[in-house]
Amino acid sequence: MGKGRILSGYRPTGRLHLGHLWGNLRRMVELQEEGDCYFFVADWHALTTEYQDPHKLREYVEEMVLDWLAVGLDPWRSVIYRQSDLPQVAEFQLYLSMITPLGWLERVPTYKEQLEQLKNKDIATHGFLGYPVLQAADILIVRGERVPVGEDQLPHLELTREIVRRFNFLYGKTFEEPQAVLSPSPRIPGTDGRKMSKSYENYIGLDDEPSLVREKVLSMVTDPARRTRRDPGEPERCSAFQLHKVYSVDRLEEIAGNCRAAGWGCVECKGLLAERVIEDLLPFQRKRRELEKEPGLAWEVLRQGKERVQPLADGVLSEVRRRMGID
Ligand code: TRP
Repeated sequence: MGKGRILSGYRPTGRLHLGHLWGNLRRMVELQEEGDCYFFVADWHALTTEYQDPHKLREYVEEMVLDWLAVGLDPWRSVIYRQSDLPQVAEFQLYLSMITPLGWLERVPTYKEQLEQLKNKDIATHGFLGYPVLQAADILIVRGERVPVGEDQLPHLELTREIVRRFNFLYGKTFEEPQAVLSPSPRIPGTDGRKMSKSYENYIGLDDEPSLVREKVLSMVTDPARRTRRDPGEPERCSAFQLHKVYSVDRLEEIAGNCRAAGWGCVECKGLLAERVIEDLLPFQRKRRELEKEPGLAWEVLRQGKERVQPLADGVLSEVRRRMGID
């Protein structure tokens, strides 16, 4: 993997859960050892779907920063900022929108899916269609070359690469094509077996109390063939086992064996899992509570991040302006 700058962003839409943690967050923390990292809170992206109800946005921005710090993102080493503190991104998006064909945007799989799924929201808007163009601007404004994301973001990354090729073709070589960095962990299912997601209400939150974690883990769907304690099961068909793959690496064979041979029941198996999840979340939760005691901490981190990222963004934007005849 190259040495280029690392960038990623999260939409502030509420507290984080295990899907974020294993899908991407832990990888982001590790990447801090490997290069210059830029992590930003994508509040404009949150507005594309939440514009009708923005009153919690500021609170969510603050919580996102505290969650990040508690997980181990280091504001000394990495630049942590808020998208809307960088107006250069909005101007850059305007330029990129000039060269992005409508057909490319309409073809993005998440676009059609979300239009269908978010029936209670009117997102047939210019802003929502332009979501991936804004994302391209986010990445290229710092010349991000490695982008740690969850799998669901791959189509957006591909679109950024297409925009880069077009930009370079039209105006001369200016940007490198960014690469997605995927987490090595298996996909973490929610308690109902679908993708873990806040909107499905099937998630285990990073701030869930031990009793709630226990309750949620015990409710996870298992192999339907294991109806009674004595029926053997197939771990690969069990959601709890997918979590064991990250939490119980040291006992994985034993766990799979006990399931296949009906050596133990699902309650026992899930009990072990719950304790592992609880133990793993403990340091995060402790740190999070400490950080909450420092008023204004998140905003101070964002203020410093903004100062550190501005000069870089200005440099890139003036080059773009020059190349596009707006200098
Ligand atoms: N679309 C991303 C998500 O929903 C958030 C995001 C916005 C992002 N801009 C980005 C991620 C740039 C990586 C790079 O999770």
